[in-house]
Amino acid sequence: MSRQLREVVFVDGVRTPFGKAKGQYAETRADDLVIKCIRELLRRNPTLPPDRVDEVAVAATTQIGDQGLTIGRTAALLAGLPDSVPGFSVDRMCAGAMTAVTTTAAGIAFGSYDVAIAGGVEHMGRHPMGEGVDPNPRILSERLVDPDALVMGKTAENLHDRYPTITKERADAFAVRSQEKAAAAYAAGKIQPDLVPVATRSAELGWGLATTDEPMRPGTTMESLATLKTPFRAHGNVTAGNAAGINDGATACVLADEDTARDLGLPVRMRLVSYAFAGVAPEVMGAGPIPSTEKALAKAGLTIDDIGAFEINEAFAVQVLSLLEHYGIADDDPRVNPYGGAIAMGHPLASSGVRLMNQLARRFEERPDVRYGLTSMCIGLGMGGTVIWENPSWNGAAA
Ligand SMILES: CC(C)(COP(=O)(O)OP(=O)(O)OC[C@H]1O[C@@H](n2cnc3c(N)ncnc32)[C@H](O)[C@@H]1OP(=O)(O)O)[C@@H](O)C(=O)NCCC(=O)NCCS
Repeated sequence: MSRQLREVVFVDGVRTPFGKAKGQYAETRADDLVIKCIRELLRRNPTLPPDRVDEVAVAATTQIGDQGLTIGRTAALLAGLPDSVPGFSVDRMCAGAMTAVTTTAAGIAFGSYDVAIAGGVEHMGRHPMGEGVDPNPRILSERLVDPDALVMGKTAENLHDRYPTITKERADAFAVRSQEKAAAAYAAGKIQPDLVPVATRSAELGWGLATTDEPMRPGTTMESLATLKTPFRAHGNVTAGNAAGINDGATACVLADEDTARDLGLPVRMRLVSYAFAGVAPEVMGAGPIPSTEKALAKAGLTIDDIGAFEINEAFAVQVLSLLEHYGIADDDPRVNPYGGAIAMGHPLASSGVRLMNQLARRFEERPDVRYGLTSMCIGLGMGGTVIWENPSWNGAAA
């Protein structure tokens, strides 16, 4: 039997506003956050019959409690999808939603699904990083060697050691720009279209409505960052100001075979070009996007110069800067995260991959002169993930 691969497209994506741990979602269940996103996708895309969804993949790093019980299936049921729609859970730490996308996309390309929903959730307030883990003593003694590998902030300090030219000042300057760009993007209404407001409740404050990213600190300056503690190493470089925080939030998107999307009258906002995941030494996990980007570019037959738009997850400023340094891209290159990133908006681990895609899809609409864009993130235990997308409204201009 011969078969042809099919084109996979990003139809639409949404997310909750992100919260600070113990903040606006302190009394909101994690699964309710992702259910809200799935419902919003169905509401925004009324020509998509719910029974045409062939799979729901939802990522969470800590798959217990309100993030457990095969959340892809339970969220699908509670979002009102018919019983016939299956679901599953995904874990690749920070790249959970990204992996939910690439896994279901591969199923679409292969012909197993016509339409899939992929996303992720992390309620880091309810589920602190590392909750319930029981690492095999042998992975500590034989493979990780350096116990820093299990503490992401320490791996970021190690990355500063590996790239001595990436100073704390450069990391802080990047963080200040992230805050400024995020504030400007909000002021220009660029973030709001993909946010789904979430009703919140607090025993103390009563009912509320989350409509914006709670972690943002628009007044951030180099001076205010200079005095912050370096919690991961005495006299280190990584602070609460140049790292993403501890956050709560969820994302979800609709992916489809391109012909199915057109038949159903669904928008085609990005076309998948290639993706790759790669591993590095766990104690410098932030370097992961370098080999994953090299692999994804090679698979696509592209070079970094072909990429006109980057959405790189800002788990730590040093981690983005190491990728940019590898490719000789300036720290303030306007192609990189022009709406700001996780340092400002937050990084609820397994949800963030789809936030990057939402933002890239918006940028493609604004920039028909850009043909290719890239979403990339570092991943705990020493990995990176990169997904390259094509702009369907590209006007033929050179990269
Ligand atoms: C860095 C980290 C330890 C900080 O945690 P925290 O101490 O609870 O953070 P806070 O928000 O309380 O900030 C600490 C201090 O910095 C200040 N601060 C934070 N961001 C600031 C900013 N942009 N400007 C000025 N001050 C800032 C806070 O006001 C606070 O000050 P205070 O101690 O006087 O109250 C935590 O955010 C972290 O672990 N981040 C990494 C998450 C991670 O590993 N993700 C996975 C990536 S792979």
